[in-house]
Amino acid sequence: MLLVDWKFLATVASLGMANALEGSLSYRANGTYQKHARLAVDALQGWYNTTTGLWDTTNWWNGANCLTVLGDLAAVDPSTLNSSASVFNNTWTLASKYRPLPAQRTVNLNVQPANSGTRHSISTDASPDFTNAMYDDEGWWALAWIRAFDVTQDRRYLNTAVDIFTDMTTGWGATCGGLWWNKEHTENGAIENELFISVAAHLARRIPEQADFRDWALKAWRWFSKSGLINDQHTINNGLDLSTCKNDHDTVWSYNQGVILGALVELSQLQSDTSYLSTARDIALGGIDALSNSDGVLQESCEPDCGADGSQFKGIFMRNLIRLHQAAPDCKIESFIRRNTDSIWDRDRDDDNHLGIRWSGPYAVADASTQSSACDALIAAAALHPLR
Ligand SMILES: *[C@@H]1O[C@H](CO)[C@@H](O)[C@H](O)[C@H]1NC(C)=O
Ligand SMILES: *[C@@H]1O[C@H](CO)[C@@H](O)[C@H](O)[C@H]1NC(C)=O
Ligand SMILES: *[C@@H]1O[C@H](CO)[C@@H](O)[C@H](O)[C@H]1NC(C)=O
Ligand SMILES: *[C@@H]1O[C@H](CO)[C@@H](O)[C@H](O)[C@H]1NC(C)=O
Repeated sequence: MLLVDWKFLATVASLGMANALEGSLSYRANGTYQKHARLAVDALQGWYNTTTGLWDTTNWWNGANCLTVLGDLAAVDPSTLNSSASVFNNTWTLASKYRPLPAQRTVNLNVQPANSGTRHSISTDASPDFTNAMYDDEGWWALAWIRAFDVTQDRRYLNTAVDIFTDMTTGWGATCGGLWWNKEHTENGAIENELFISVAAHLARRIPEQADFRDWALKAWRWFSKSGLINDQHTINNGLDLSTCKNDHDTVWSYNQGVILGALVELSQLQSDTSYLSTARDIALGGIDALSNSDGVLQESCEPDCGADGSQFKGIFMRNLIRLHQAAPDCKIESFIRRNTDSIWDRDRDDDNHLGIRWSGPYAVADASTQSSACDALIAAAALHPLR
């Protein structure tokens, strides 16, 4: 539990008590966060490959999170929208040709094989296929296209998200309930279910005339909230033990404390019910407590060797914390976002604004995954006081 906000105390010391509140609120809130976020996203785009529409140095699902970063930046800094819009279009047009080959699908799913051809087969479909063998990968792309739709109002992106979601529904009905992780039905975990709820709730709010999105969102949340995945500390473990259908007590990954927050914010707006926000606050503060180091900086248990997947997670928590904060402002969340962003900028950055995995520093190495993950934090800070 963090009882002391050091940045705040430092401000108190330097400005004196009279100016302390004012000072703490304006710290780096005068456009500096926006500027840092833009610089960091520019550095991210150094890895963008216009041929593939993906980000070199990282993988398929991470690409969806890079795309989401561009959308989130455009939402707080509209001057970036033009360049982001051309990336959205390019990725939408090209990236599906480079997606991982869909695995053999199980016969009872009644799913049409999406693209039975070669890995780099050229799709000529009007709407490109962003499905693959992993329901969580699909969820990331659906959320990315929803974000692209939100900032551009380009209907193509929303339609793609609907197509992806339709495929995700074929994973419903796992051994312990909820969604399977993959089309091979080997795991029943938290992340794909959080994504499923979030995508359904996002679509329900954007396409209200189609009732099944809301039905799915409510049904999937009902299952999730009773599944045992949320433990007594209000944190969420990796998944369910398929033999007992109980919480597997496996790792508390930061992204599992994040995606559900965005889902609950959408649900609260969908249902005009603030109780979803109280649940989200418990999970957010539980995650902050469980995953902060002694300086109050977010730390994944695998650091610094988190592989290609784990390096993405922390930003996803930050991205969803700011969504919760925007729906239900909370000073603990605000100071957590500032502290992490300041630490990244001051201690985990090289001269080219590359940002590494260890937010408390020292900087070692970066790729498109560590960069986009840190960008999520910087953009969250920029969103605390958007320039309009
Ligand atoms: C914003 O405020 C910070 C902290 O007071 C200061 O260091 C920085 O130079 C300012 N930036 C701009 C662009 O005014
Ligand atoms: C972009 O991706 C293509 C296809 O994988 C690859 O051949 C090319 O080298 C990449 N471009 C850069 C600049 O890395
Ligand atoms: C965005 O691009 C369009 C077309 O290229 C151009 O007309 C418009 O002025 C640009 N807007 C901004 C804000 O740069
Ligand atoms: C979208 O991207 C594709 C591929 O780069 C390009 O051919 C097309 O002209 C772009 N469309 C728009 C509207 O920018």
